[in-house]
Amino acid sequence: MKVFVAGGAGYIGSHTVYELIRAGHEVVVYDNLSTGCRDAVHPGARFYEGDILDKDRIVQVLQTESAEGAVDVAMHFAAKLIVPESVSMPLAYYHNNVEGLRQMLLGLMESEVTSIVFSSTAAVYGEPQKGECLEDDYTLPINPYGETKLAAERMIKWASEAHGLNYCIFRYFNVAGADSTLEIGLNKDQLTHLVPLIMQAALGQIEKLSIFGSDYDTFDGTCVRDYIHVTDLAKAHVKGAEYLCKQNSSLLVNLGSGEGYSVKEVVDAASKLLPLAYEFVPRRPGDPAKLYANITKAREQLGWQPELGLNDILQSDLDYRRKLLGSNS
Ligand code: UFG
Repeated sequence: MKVFVAGGAGYIGSHTVYELIRAGHEVVVYDNLSTGCRDAVHPGARFYEGDILDKDRIVQVLQTESAEGAVDVAMHFAAKLIVPESVSMPLAYYHNNVEGLRQMLLGLMESEVTSIVFSSTAAVYGEPQKGECLEDDYTLPINPYGETKLAAERMIKWASEAHGLNYCIFRYFNVAGADSTLEIGLNKDQLTHLVPLIMQAALGQIEKLSIFGSDYDTFDGTCVRDYIHVTDLAKAHVKGAEYLCKQNSSLLVNLGSGEGYSVKEVVDAASKLLPLAYEFVPRRPGDPAKLYANITKAREQLGWQPELGLNDILQSDLDYRRKLLGSNS
């Protein structure tokens, strides 16, 4: 396959590019480098700088690439994805995540690319009663990030009906960890996600971890989430793209591990690798109490199965952060 990867210099995009190349596919990366990093792009991929909102640039790149052989599938990772940031900057999230997708779809249609793998999120489920989420469950986001991704999913479905687009929509749960080579990982100045912050506390890069809320309706009072290793997630994208190339149909599936862990359980598991200081602080706005995936559909429809667990996630993030520390000293 030849795959066009918008956002391929970012965290999940760069890991997916690595897995596509390992599986023998040809990869074209398109990224504006606003949060992505040029060094994270696998040397085997071709890189074009450009913005998701710039439809003309997308068409130009797709036409240049098509001259050498048709692009089979597009992937879209070029989105804003921080829940608390979305609460304080909702309009920026609508602009990038909804209008950006619209521009990309226009560019794909103009270039006759008819398959898309799209990154959505468990945040579309909002605050599920039972915690476990199935793809057919009711969706009612409780933060602007989830709202923009739900709007994007619906845009793709309507475009599919009207214009014959095939899609594979993935609803991600909590993605963490780093590639086994440690060449890529989550490398940002301002980290907001739990796993890297735990490791920063363990390595003394921040004084202590703040645990947001201890009074949720969960077994230990802290939020329950489903942590999936970024390499497992990336491999699912390869399967999703292959599915679209083989079948003339579309798919929407959850990507998680299928297991829920509380924040406190994750902290305790990490403390076994390296002790860390933490404190309980008030709840953070926009956080649901429990969110974990039912992954039966991904198993059945894609033949995909997560291979790595919570300890692999924690260990690989720790190793990656140690490597960054070493290269900065
Ligand atoms: N948390 C802390 N302290 C921190 C950071 C996080 O206690 O310093 C807690 C949060 O309150 C939450 C859990 O750890 O309960 C996970 O928080 P993250 O910020 O790591 O991730 P989110 O659950 O907010 O969001 C992530 C993705 C979303 C996705 C969601 C699905 O960023 O894209 O998982 O579960 F929608």
